[in-house]
Amino acid sequence: MKRIVLTGAAGRLGSYLREPLSKMADSFVSSDLADDIGRLYEKETYRRADLANYDEIHALLDGADMVVHFGAIGDEAPFETILGPNIVGAYNIWEAAFRNGVRRVVYASSIHAVGMHPKNDFIGTDAPHRPDTYYGLAKCFAEDLASLYWDKRGVEAVCMRILSCAQVTNARAVGSWLSYDDLIHLVQCAITTPVTGFSIVYGVSNNDRAPVDNAKASFLGYRPKDNAEQFAEEIFAAEPPMDPADPGHMCHGGPFAAVELGHSGVATMNIVDDKRKV
Ligand SMILES: NC(=O)c1ccc[n+]([C@@H]2O[C@H](COP(=O)([O-])OP(=O)(O)OC[C@H]3O[C@@H](n4cnc5c(N)ncnc54)[C@H](O)[C@@H]3O)[C@@H](O)[C@H]2O)c1
Repeated sequence: MKRIVLTGAAGRLGSYLREPLSKMADSFVSSDLADDIGRLYEKETYRRADLANYDEIHALLDGADMVVHFGAIGDEAPFETILGPNIVGAYNIWEAAFRNGVRRVVYASSIHAVGMHPKNDFIGTDAPHRPDTYYGLAKCFAEDLASLYWDKRGVEAVCMRILSCAQVTNARAVGSWLSYDDLIHLVQCAITTPVTGFSIVYGVSNNDRAPVDNAKASFLGYRPKDNAEQFAEEIFAAEPPMDPADPGHMCHGGPFAAVELGHSGVATMNIVDDKRKV
């Protein structure tokens, strides 16, 4: 492969993807909003681009074979905040991919596209959209855009509905954890699988308590190795009693299913900032 572009490279998940992706192509371009992201890996170059600006995204995707699209506001926020980076930004990525002849978009979608489904429904990737927030709604928009650009314009897409890719610090994560190693493996599979058309898979590790059916991800050769059951006993012992009437406990979206529209879900989640350093 000649060139892979990664958006959201300065983010937490981007920090784990940069090195493995830099080894998968002749050239690797990482991108984010910051002017500079410090030291780079071999074959990596950095280019600042605002997702909400079509011209900048068009120039970013020049010569790319694939784009791994992780840039976004990663939390619930007022609609006006989500609109530029997450909704217009998704359009800019797919439109620029089409116009630049990019073969495939590997997209960081989210469980929050289907977050209001009850957790005891073992939903598959064909569950109807049921967003829990404006953030989740933007992921629904991007998935539908991916479907449209495949049907009408032949741009392939793998939409990875990531459940929760962070250290396991709460009971929900015992089911929803995606380890960093499994994230890297999933993205590598989404890049190297010869043909994908339009597809949706879940980004979740091999957890005993995974609440979704990811059987349709098998065509990618995705075989997650990590299992959050190793944390279950300690986490459940420390967890306060759960309320079966609380959507935050009962729905796939967890805390995002319970927050008011436009209010942060991440603020309630105790996420450890363990961004990888170069
Ligand atoms: N972390 C998770 O558990 C999880 C779960 C589901 C989906 N996701 C998705 O994965 C992706 C990465 O998540 P993360 O946890 O690394 O988030 P993050 O906030 O650490 O990283 C997102 C990056 O996007 C960049 N960005 C925001 N607005 C931008 C703009 N207008 N132009 C260019 N770049 C912009 C930010 O600067 C940031 O570096 C996001 O799309 C998120 O929605 C993450």
